[in-house]
Amino acid sequence: MPLGKITAKDFPKKFVWGVATSAYQTEGAFDKHGKKNSIWDTFTNDKKFTKGNGNIATDFYTKYEEDILKIKALNLGAFRFSLSWSRIFPDGIGEPNKKGVKFYHKVIDCCLKNEIEPWVTLYHWDLPQVLENEGGWTNREVLNWFTYFAEFCTKEYGTKVKKWMVLNEPMSFVGLGYFMGIHAPGRRGLGNFLPAAHHATLCQSIGGRIIRKNVEEASVGTTFSCSVVKPKNFFRRHVGAAKRLDALLNRFFIEPALGLGYPTDEIPGLKKIEKYFELGDQDLMKFDFDFIGIQYYFRIVAQYSLFPPLLFANQIAAEKRNAKINNMGMEIYPKGLMKMLEKYSAYENVKQIYITESGQCFDEEILNGEIDDQNRIKYFQKTFKICKKAIKKGIKLKGYFIWTLVDNFEWADGIKPRFGIIYNDFISQKRTLKKSAYWLKSFLKK
Ligand code: NOJ
Repeated sequence: MPLGKITAKDFPKKFVWGVATSAYQTEGAFDKHGKKNSIWDTFTNDKKFTKGNGNIATDFYTKYEEDILKIKALNLGAFRFSLSWSRIFPDGIGEPNKKGVKFYHKVIDCCLKNEIEPWVTLYHWDLPQVLENEGGWTNREVLNWFTYFAEFCTKEYGTKVKKWMVLNEPMSFVGLGYFMGIHAPGRRGLGNFLPAAHHATLCQSIGGRIIRKNVEEASVGTTFSCSVVKPKNFFRRHVGAAKRLDALLNRFFIEPALGLGYPTDEIPGLKKIEKYFELGDQDLMKFDFDFIGIQYYFRIVAQYSLFPPLLFANQIAAEKRNAKINNMGMEIYPKGLMKMLEKYSAYENVKQIYITESGQCFDEEILNGEIDDQNRIKYFQKTFKICKKAIKKGIKLKGYFIWTLVDNFEWADGIKPRFGIIYNDFISQKRTLKKSAYWLKSFLKK
C-alpha cells in the first residue's frame, strides 16, 4: 500500500486518539499499601516461571504523573488503563483498601487535570488470588464477586469516568489461563475452560448493566481480541479448520452478548458449555454495548489437524511460513485490520467500534541516545490509513488506542517484547522517547 501522507487532521474531529495500558503490566508496587496477590503475582513469582515478574513493572504506581504528562505532550487525548482488583479489594470482596482506592483517584484526577480522558477497564486479567483459591473463573460465585467489584468501582469513580470497558480480551485470559495453562492461573483442559468461559461471558454483560445503572452518561463497552484467520490453502479440510478457529478466536465472546449464543454450530465439541447454563442465562448473556473494542495484532494461517481434538485445527507458525514477524513470532499484517473492522461492523447490533489496542513489539536498544523504530512507525502509518479508509466506507470506527505507552511486562513473555512508543530501562526506570513517539506527536499536532 502506498504511504501517502496523512495526519490526524484527515480524521473526524471527535476521533479518539489514545494509548492503552493495564494495571499488572505497569503498576508494580505489588505488595504496597495493603495490596495482596493477584493470580499474576502468584504465577510469576513461582520458581517454575522464568521470565521475571511484574513486582515493579514500569513503576507506574509512583511514576503515573510523569507518564500522564508524556501522554499529553504527545498530543494524545485519551488514556486507557485498568483497575487492579486486588489493590482495591485485597481479599477479593469485603472491605475496600483505602490507599488502593485513592491511587486510582489520583490517576483519574491527573488525567482530568491534563485534559486526558480516562478510559477504564474493569478487568485486565489480574484476579485476586484469594478468589482463585475458591476456583476463580470456574466457580459460578465469580458472578457475585465481580458484581461486588463492579458495583464499587462504578460508584466510586463514575462521576469522573464516563468511558468504561468491562473485560479485556476474555478469549486470552480464559484460553491461555484456563485451557492452555500458559498464563495465570496456569490451569488446563476443557473442564476448566468451559465454565470459566461461560462465567466470563456472563460477567461481561453483568458488568455492562452495572456500569449503565451506576454511571450517568456512561459509554459502556468491552473488548475482544481478534485475528485474521486464513486457511493454509483452499482444500476443504483446511477451510473448515480456519472456520473453527475463527469461531473460537473471533466470535465466541461477542456473539452471546449480541443475542446469537455461542457459535457452537461451527465447533460442536464446545456444545458441552451448555452443561454450565442455568435457567435464564441465555438472556443474562445479552447486553447492548454502546461500543465494542477490538484488539488486533496478527494474522493466523490455519490447517486441519487431529490435535487439539474437538477443534481439529491448529495454526502454522508464522516463522515457518516465512512471514514478516515481530519479536513474539507473530505475523505483522496491518492489512488484516480492515478485515476485522469489516467483520465486526457487519454485526447488526454493534453500534460503534474502537480499536482499543493495536501495536507491535521488536528487539530494541538505545543507540546514540535514540531508538529508531521505523518498523513501528510503518505499522502505525499503515493501520491509521486503514482506519481512514474504513471511516470513509461507513464503518463506525471512533478511535484508536496504541498499545502501548511505555515498554512493559508482557505477561508470560516477560520484558523482552517491547511494545512501547517510549523505551523503558527496567533497572533505572528511565523513559526514552522512541522515534515513533516523535512521529506520533507530529501526526497528532493540532
Ligand atoms: C493484548 C493484551 O490486552 C495486552 O495486555 C498485551 O500486552 C497485548 N495484547 C500484547 O500482547
